[in-house]
Amino acid sequence: MKKILIATEKPFARAAIEGIAHVINSSGYEMKLLEKYKDPRELRDAAADADAMIIRSDLVTKEVIDAADKLKIVVRAGAGFDNVDLTAASEKGIVVMNTPGQNANAVAELAVGMMIYVARNFFNGTPGTELQGKRLGLHACGNVGRHIGRIAVGFGMEVYGFDPFIKRSDLDIEKIKCVDSIEELYSICQYVTLNIPANKDTLKSINYRLLEKMPQDATLVNTARKEIIDENDLLRIFGDRPDFKYIADIAPDCSGEIAENFPGRYFFTPKKMGAQTAEANINAGIAAARQIVDFFEKDVRTFQVNV
Ligand code: 3PG
Repeated sequence: MKKILIATEKPFARAAIEGIAHVINSSGYEMKLLEKYKDPRELRDAAADADAMIIRSDLVTKEVIDAADKLKIVVRAGAGFDNVDLTAASEKGIVVMNTPGQNANAVAELAVGMMIYVARNFFNGTPGTELQGKRLGLHACGNVGRHIGRIAVGFGMEVYGFDPFIKRSDLDIEKIKCVDSIEELYSICQYVTLNIPANKDTLKSINYRLLEKMPQDATLVNTARKEIIDENDLLRIFGDRPDFKYIADIAPDCSGEIAENFPGRYFFTPKKMGAQTAEANINAGIAAARQIVDFFEKDVRTFQVNV
């Protein structure tokens, strides 16, 4: 009987586990659960006899992959797969997939929620500002970007987007106005949300050159990855522009310095929580389980991210 390991340091909601268990058990497989583990060795040990794994932001390193002799497939229940060593997986013929879009609405709702929080002065009772009528720039218009756009249009924001991989006509339908360059996006938008993956092309790509272009009372919203920010440049813009605010789903490495020097101009979630809703967990977890079953039963490889 094939063993499917659900390895989540940050556990899924119970309802998601029940749904995943149903898909796995009704397909004749066995589910094994590893949650809230503290030491990466626990993941390595649990992977040793797994045929498949479902993970979230858990680090699937070469050590984990080397220890997993039976492993055929890893599905990241979520969008970003920067936590998986794709080279090591490919070398062992292990298929890696993600579940794009399944948790995107949850991330988008958090982004907009944090924008309201900052616009209303962190709910401290003083007069804030409204989102209506303000310009929002979507730095990439994939699943998360488009959900943010949809919600922001509902708030009466003017929504702009830059995404060289998406057709203009598709964004027109969603009332997202395309700009011609990333520089233009930053130049015209008071709010910018980062919806790009972390990879070798995007690491530290959000830099001073872009941030200095933002209009007065700029707010940068990061629900993507901290690694895409050039943190030296972030500190520099904080220092140069007293009107600049940064809100992020998970603190940057320089959060201590920001807290000390720029109070009242930042907000960081204590733990990455964009996808932490029951709905997102159910959608992504069950999709991952189904993808594993379809892979074993029918060799379906949709959403494979390695070659
Ligand atoms: C993703 O890449 O899907 C999100 O960052 C969610 O990550 P999480 O599953 O660790 O919450």
